[in-house]
Parts: sequence; C-alpha cells; structure tokens
Amino acid sequence: MSTETLYKNLIRPNIADMAPYTPIVPFDVLSKRLGIPAEDIIKLDANENPYGPAPSVYRALADEKDYHIYPDPDSTALRQALSEYTGIDATHIIAGQGADELIDLIVRLFVTPGDAVINCPPTFGMYRFDTELNGGKIIDVERKADFSLDIETIVETATRGNRPPKILFITSPNNPDGSVLRDACLQRLLQLPLIVVLDEAYIEFAGGSRADWVLERENLIVLRTFSKWAGLAGLRVGYGIFPHWIISHLLKIKQPYNVNVAGSAAALASLADIRYLQENIKKIVEEREQLYFALRNFDFLEPYPSQANFILSRVVGRDAAGLKAALAERGILIRYFNTPLLQDHVRISVGKPSQTSALLDALESS
Ligand SMILES: Cc1ncc(COP(=O)(O)O)c(C=O)c1O
Repeated sequence: MSTETLYKNLIRPNIADMAPYTPIVPFDVLSKRLGIPAEDIIKLDANENPYGPAPSVYRALADEKDYHIYPDPDSTALRQALSEYTGIDATHIIAGQGADELIDLIVRLFVTPGDAVINCPPTFGMYRFDTELNGGKIIDVERKADFSLDIETIVETATRGNRPPKILFITSPNNPDGSVLRDACLQRLLQLPLIVVLDEAYIEFAGGSRADWVLERENLIVLRTFSKWAGLAGLRVGYGIFPHWIISHLLKIKQPYNVNVAGSAAALASLADIRYLQENIKKIVEEREQLYFALRNFDFLEPYPSQANFILSRVVGRDAAGLKAALAERGILIRYFNTPLLQDHVRISVGKPSQTSALLDALESS
C-alpha cells in the first residue's frame, strides 16, 4: 500500500465518499470570466436582497470599536433585540453564523452515524449536506407536483422501522418554489415522534411566522436569518427559536464565538432600522408580483406563484440549462438546478425594477 493510500484511508469514510459541495462562483471571478464589469452583472441566482443592508448598518460597522475583542458568546444584545422583533423571550433564542450554522448544530445534536433524517425535496440543499456530513442517512419524501408536502408518506416514514427518523426538515416558504405550509399540515407533523425543524428563512416576504408555536411545543424549532429580508447574506447572521430543553444542549456544542462582532453590529443596526427594511420588503413583494405576471407572458415559461423573494418557473419546449447559459452570457445570473426533480426548471430571484426590465429584455431575445 502506498503511503498516500495509507494516509487517505484515515479520512472518515462517509466524507471520502461524499460528492464535493459546489459553491457559487465569486463575483469578481465571474466578472472576469464573462468579461462584464462586476457592477453590470445582474445577480438573480441566490435569493439575495437587491437593496442590500440598511444605510445605518454601514454607519454601525464604521463606528464599531470592538473588532479587536472576542464577541459575546451569548450574543446577549442581539438576542434581546431579536426578542423584541419576534415577541419571543430571549431564553428561547440562539444566534448563529447564518441559519446554515444552526442546521449543522441541530444535526450534530441529534444524529449519530446511521440515524435517519427526513428531507422533502425539492428543497434547500443544506439539510442533506449537513446530515451526510455528520454520518446521518437522508430519507427523501418528495413533494407533490404542486410542491406541497406529502404528509401521508412523511407520517408513514416517521413511524416506520426500529430506528425511526429523528429529524424532519421543512421549509416555509419553500426554496425553490416559494409555497407555504398550511397550519393543519404543521399541526399534523408536530404529532410525530421526531424533531420538526421549520426553516423560515423567507418568512418576512410571506408573513405568518410560526415562531410562537415553539412556546407550546417540545419538538418544534424555527430557523430565521438576516440574509434575505435584511440584506446581510455576506455577514452571516441567523438565529433559531428553540424549546428550552434543546437550548441547554445546543449551548454545549456551539462554537463560543460563532457570531462575529461585525455581524452582530450589523444585525443590531438592522433591527433598529426595521421601517427602512420593511419598505424594501414591500418593494420586493410588489416586484415579485410584477415579475410573476411578466414571466407568464413567455410561452416557454410556466412560473409558480411564490410567497418568497424568488420565482420558480418550469421551462417548456426548450432546455433550462441552455436558457440559464444564454442569460449568463448577457451578465444575468439565474439559478438552474441540475437535479432530477428540477431538470426543466429555473429559479429567478426578485431584483429591482430595472433588473426585472433587463431580465425581460434578455428573455425576449434569448
Ligand atoms: C431555506 C433556506 N434556509 C437557510 C438559508 C441560509 O440562510 P443563512 O444565509 O442564514 O445561512 C437559505 C439560503 O439560501 C435558504 O434558502
């Protein structure tokens, strides 16, 4: 055996066998590749907020004095401000480096190698990623044709076998289609003998958060983020609302300095500038409706109604990957998922009105 093989065999087998994660291409790299100046690229592929952070965030970041000091491990000030924003007591809240970190922590807390987790594709990819990373086994219960959850199959899967699944991840509004979960469905799922993680990353665009349901349930976790409504995707701040008994264990495994000083300052400034950000949410929601009706006019697109800041469309009579590539040539980035369930779909994030116009022009001549 060569020494390289010897050392390679030391890698955890589940990671050695894992397909690598495909990260997004950084803006400057993309700009060079396309030969288009970065400021002219219209980025509608990652559900970011086209209006960016509140102006007060830039001031708060410039004024922050404590960059040389480790951050508060408890994110006390941020959790207090989040308590006012959500109406939930701060003792139920943990802040994280994006909702992504909390997904990973939840999986680590419950999943020992071989344990199962229910995933409902098509949906956000990190539930699968973190489960597999932690040696868990994903059981996919596909959504129905209208993207609603297949409740009967979830119930059957959750109660099957002698090692039943421990976690169910659900997303409302769901990424990539923007549909929301009905109350009755959530109530049914909460009766299952597992932890229900409800990811509300896009809830500010839909309204109707179930964060306060956590107070009455021992098996519900609600995840939220500053990445979408507050335009802080680059600063990585999210949070979760948890039953107390879960918080006490999560705090044992969380990295102490997970939310950094800049992220915390930006999130606090955002929460102090809610009205400005709510105006942007309103603009995005209005633009979403404009975009939806405009997309319907193209005979090769069948958009789905969305409650989030993006619209999924079926591409009819032409190749979805080719459409994405044709738009990219013009500096307009949309999302194509090369997965079996979404082969003939593209997802377009809602941009500013000028970006919608450019997109529609490009679609007309693509
Ligand atoms: C459903 C869903 N949850 C969570 C995230 C990630 O949130 P964060 O940026 O806070 O890690 C995303 C990002 O696209 C998402 O679509």
